[in-house]
Amino acid sequence: MIRKTAARLAAATALAAIGTAAMAAEVNVYSSRHYDSDDALYAKFTKETGIEVNRIEGKADELIARLEAEGNNSPADVLITVDAGRMARAEEAGVLQAYPSDMIDKAVPAHLRHPDDLWFGVSQRARIIFYAKDRVENPPHTYEELADPKFEGQICIRSSSNVYNQSLLASIIEADGADAAKEWAAGVVGNLARAPQGGDTDQLRGIVSGECDIAVANHYYFLRGYEEDVEGLSSGIDAIGWVWPNQDGRGAHVNLTAAAMAKSAPNPEEAKALLEFLTSEFAQQHFANQNNEYPAVQSVEANEVTKRLGEFKPDSTTPTAAFSANAKQAQSIFNEVDWQ
Ligand code: FE2
Repeated sequence: MIRKTAARLAAATALAAIGTAAMAAEVNVYSSRHYDSDDALYAKFTKETGIEVNRIEGKADELIARLEAEGNNSPADVLITVDAGRMARAEEAGVLQAYPSDMIDKAVPAHLRHPDDLWFGVSQRARIIFYAKDRVENPPHTYEELADPKFEGQICIRSSSNVYNQSLLASIIEADGADAAKEWAAGVVGNLARAPQGGDTDQLRGIVSGECDIAVANHYYFLRGYEEDVEGLSSGIDAIGWVWPNQDGRGAHVNLTAAAMAKSAPNPEEAKALLEFLTSEFAQQHFANQNNEYPAVQSVEANEVTKRLGEFKPDSTTPTAAFSANAKQAQSIFNEVDWQ
């Protein structure tokens, strides 16, 4: 009798185990972030919630195309991109759904969120102006000034196919109008020190090598030069000055690492739990430390390396949603002014 009960118990336990395995809570993330250290972030979420995180990484455009192709059968629950413009493309492609969350609404300022809860910013990345301290006495203080003919032959900035530049131009279209934006783009092309080439780090390297006097780059590429030994940059980093642009006006252009819920999310509850977790202090500090980005949640401070750049006013008047709304127009302006 006792043996029988034990056997029944064992069977019941085994069944329960199978049941748990079959119904194990999980969330599937499509992400265009490629940082090994993000593993620690997701491990913490799993530890707290018991929800396993399955990650598929790829370029944002490929992930969005995949979501479209998979349609209702998509296993994706959450989409993460490193550019708000791309999130807008996802919205346009109809692959997102709203995730109404009081927690996210309270944590993230309105200008860093989609008005209908289709996506929100997790961390902020500023696109700013750098210059050679020994060669440039009076650097440009606004994005607009980059087009001033007095900087002819001095500016380095990467190609127009880069989404950071597309979002920057989209924000200028929003702030100054399309005609002025086109004039601006033509002016910048006229001031280039060399044909656009390489990534943001290469623009900063150009200042060190002497090829460029002024460069436009995201802030964290510069900070990486302090933290790590970045070839061609770290050795000359003290010779580089920086300008927080448009501080007397709309503020510095910031882009976002952004997160959203996929349209056909098979695990919407788990997806919402992960999205909310991304606004937690732990997650916000993770983003701040891991790539020296500015937390989207205002109560969480930037890390010490990032604070090196000082206080600044971000552009909080140009809605990030405008980056994608103006993306097509930005691309045609780039083509028209022959910004390679
Ligand atoms: Fe980047």
